[in-house]
Amino acid sequence: MQLLIDSPTNDVLVTTPKPRGRTIKALGVGKGDHANYLIQGDNLDVLKALMPSLQGMVRCVYIDPPYNTQENFAHYSDVAKHHDWLAELEERLVLLFRTLTKDGSLWISIDDLGLHYLKVACDRLFGRDKFVATIVWNHRETRENRRVFSFNHEYILVYAKDPVLFNSTRGDFPLSEEILARYKNPDNDPRGPWQSISANVQAGHAVASQFYDVVAPNGKRHFLPQGRCWAYNERRMREEIKQGNIWFGSDGNGAPRVKKFLKDVQRGMAPSTLWTADVAGTTTDAKKHIKSLFPDGHPFDTPKPEKLLHRILQIATQPGDLVLDAYLGSGTTASVAHKTGRRYIGIECGEHAVSICAQRLKMVAQGERGGISSEVDWRGGGGFGFVQAP
Ligand SMILES: C[S@@+](CC[C@H](N)C(=O)[O-])C[C@H]1O[C@@H](n2cnc3c(N)ncnc32)[C@H](O)[C@@H]1O
Repeated sequence: MQLLIDSPTNDVLVTTPKPRGRTIKALGVGKGDHANYLIQGDNLDVLKALMPSLQGMVRCVYIDPPYNTQENFAHYSDVAKHHDWLAELEERLVLLFRTLTKDGSLWISIDDLGLHYLKVACDRLFGRDKFVATIVWNHRETRENRRVFSFNHEYILVYAKDPVLFNSTRGDFPLSEEILARYKNPDNDPRGPWQSISANVQAGHAVASQFYDVVAPNGKRHFLPQGRCWAYNERRMREEIKQGNIWFGSDGNGAPRVKKFLKDVQRGMAPSTLWTADVAGTTTDAKKHIKSLFPDGHPFDTPKPEKLLHRILQIATQPGDLVLDAYLGSGTTASVAHKTGRRYIGIECGEHAVSICAQRLKMVAQGERGGISSEVDWRGGGGFGFVQAP
């Protein structure tokens, strides 16, 4: 079997017939280090060994731990007593949270049975103020008729080291075609396309200076509807009208509306908490992808689609940031990180660290075309180090 051992810059692939394990402490994960690592071993031991160099270094932790489904999969067992399952996960979560940078975030895939226990545990371990969101992911489009309900979604719990900092530094998505279509320029405003929003708002927290009649440039007076106040006080409103920021309709007689210019929309769209199959892929997509990479033998049973990880890394990281997945499975997180220029550490205890993850990442480095490859125009390159935990 051939495995890739990284060169110091990861630019050159060096192959060796045997995994030449380095001591885990010697991994180069500091800022400026370009190395990617696949580590075979129990994540608790590995995290403990790595903690001195990993603490505060990881921009995004993503984990997809066994959900305790009581199933024995071909590559790992998912049968545990509920208490043991949660206790083992908690032990690792504490360490994983410590690896985060100040603007870092932790994402955990989980199903309906585990979500609520895990949410309470995470709130207790990290603090309720570190909670960011629960994402609902439509992971299957086919119906599951054997059960009382067809489970068509999973969850992703999101926590951040500092949710305010995370919010101001996270990635967002370009405005959709649908939203862009709302921006028009019926008055040929030289500032470009705009859309209008109501100039009056609910009067709940209004102050006295927000109640007056607005006088349009053509002299028409506009009165407030019941229970509403103007968004600005009278002086500011006059100034906004003078600046051409208030729209009174194409004939000048319409109710005042505030012009919002496309050029001022800095951040694109905030990510929604509802992730449909078309934007984040499905488990069926993921299995087909793995099957195409490993046509012989039993495919990995529970892979996540690359689209899902791509979305997470787009929100949580920038190219060059370090990503950590401590339950690597078939290697999806590492594959997506590799294709999108993030650095990564993937930990997997099973034999498939070698038979699937390492082989998959080798294919990725050689320009593998599945998953998100066409979306990100992936053409190959880079490498990774393989380490077996002692
Ligand atoms: C649900 S799978 C992850 C699937 C992965 N997200 C993917 O896309 O392929 C969970 C993985 O965690 C691994 N695992 C379970 N306990 C572990 C431990 N203590 N240390 C390292 N890996 C572990 C299992 O072997 C399994 O491959």
